[in-house]
Amino acid sequence: MKTQKKSGVSRREGDPAHETLLILDFGSQYTQLIARRVREHKVFSKILPYNASLEEIRRENPKALILSGSPANVYGPKAPLPVKEIFSLGIPVLGICYGLQLIAQTFGGKVHKSAKREYGHAEVTVDQRAGLFDGLPGQVTCWMSHGDKLDKLPQGFKRIAHTSSAPIAACCDPIRKIWGVQFHPEVVHTPQGAKLLGNFLFKIAGFRGLWTSRSFIEESIEKIRAQVGTHKVVLGLSGGVDSSVAAILLHKAIGKNLVCIFVDNGLLRKEEAAQVERTFRGHYKLNLRCVDASGIFLKRLQGVKNPERKRKIIGRTFIEVFRKEAVKLGHVPFLAQGTLYPDVIESVSVHGGPTSMIKSHHNVGGLPKRMKFKLVEPLRDLFKDEVRAVGRSLGIPAHFIDRHPFPGPGLAVRVLGVLTREKLDVLREADAIFIEEIQKAGLYDRIWQAFTVLLPVHSVGVMGDERTYENAAALRAVTSLDGMTADWARIPDAVLAKVSSRIINEVRGINRVCYDISSKPPATIEWE
Ligand code: XMP
Repeated sequence: MKTQKKSGVSRREGDPAHETLLILDFGSQYTQLIARRVREHKVFSKILPYNASLEEIRRENPKALILSGSPANVYGPKAPLPVKEIFSLGIPVLGICYGLQLIAQTFGGKVHKSAKREYGHAEVTVDQRAGLFDGLPGQVTCWMSHGDKLDKLPQGFKRIAHTSSAPIAACCDPIRKIWGVQFHPEVVHTPQGAKLLGNFLFKIAGFRGLWTSRSFIEESIEKIRAQVGTHKVVLGLSGGVDSSVAAILLHKAIGKNLVCIFVDNGLLRKEEAAQVERTFRGHYKLNLRCVDASGIFLKRLQGVKNPERKRKIIGRTFIEVFRKEAVKLGHVPFLAQGTLYPDVIESVSVHGGPTSMIKSHHNVGGLPKRMKFKLVEPLRDLFKDEVRAVGRSLGIPAHFIDRHPFPGPGLAVRVLGVLTREKLDVLREADAIFIEEIQKAGLYDRIWQAFTVLLPVHSVGVMGDERTYENAAALRAVTSLDGMTADWARIPDAVLAKVSSRIINEVRGINRVCYDISSKPPATIEWE
């Protein structure tokens, strides 16, 4: 349901690593999943909206097309329809669900409302093994999600699979190389889906599967050089995975002409600033400017309790500090950003309204347009896990690549209420212990995010012979796929006990530790 905005840089033609599978998006919730599944076969895939012009489609030089599913009915007055010429490009086409129905209707078949919606698992009987079902068993479990069905094939097409309620579960016109499936091969509930997509890509469309992290790196280096020439590029390095990978990639391409600015806002985790400096300046020899701006950030946050006000102050201050530092560099025409593919995909709506939940972006790194930089975005074609793979290929240490997400406003939203330098220090110590213990227990990589929150609550305790009256801290650890929903992580009691005991004994200022057992929704991951 999302489609990509135009990229400023065209890809080289004729290089096998650049073979592109183009997906036309008709508003399915699974479109991004199709793109990812194709890429898992080392074939580069790109999403365009269903109404892309022929010129836009040709510009991508696709070797094959996939037509996605859709919540719409193909026979309806507002059915999303592509330009007809897609079927005359002479390249193989695979229609999935709505895509199959669109193919059928285009070539004179019959699609109508089914008496019974088919939703969930279905046993598909294969009538023809060659082609799409090559190497698959005669009966395969597939995921169906449709209310319309096809029961008359267009001329030239033949049935290659059926179910008890869908007489045509898959069909093809081998001469024109047009294939269609009623089920969804891209979802995990179709266990043979990857094999089936592989058959389409390699056996039918003739892809070679050469798109890898290494080919991506080589191509990006050339593209960056072609785009920026001998000019300087500035990049805001946060130490997070995206900006780190972008920085190393750019550094490989243009060396000292890349200037990275790292803003220490005083809201980072224990030793984070030193680690960034050590790794990127020390090890990678990046042209890195570290700005200790903690004073100005903390001054502006003094007395501020409201989380949204904290975010706004931090966002504004970051821009100000970054701009001041960038101006010192003289004329720098380019700004590099770690923008990812999901950030540049737009929603396609076939019903007039938004069809997808879009995660709100609260990044503080967004710089205003009036800064008049030309953008360099080497990761804009990649999903997050692909960025990680590229990072690994570039040899970036795991503690940067696999690190838990960290919010732009940092510890400011983890010291609840009004923050002070002292409170931040206390939180940093407690948080470091929590992370160290879950790493020791081998749990770190199974948890989406783990951190400590300093509560604005004092409670009574006893230490030795003395009564204490100190802060309480909350441990938060969640499992999640994308941060949109989350569940609290079931950390073993023994680990929690160790963390609690260490924090209370080792961190002055905390005498009580709680574990947060709320899921998202209705709670959020962060407390502010
Ligand atoms: P919530 O708390 O909304 O967080 O469940 C979802 C994910 O977003 C991160 N987060 C932020 N990231 N700036 C960011 O860059 C922010 O202001 C911000 N607030 C939350 C959070 O850490 C989690 O990964």
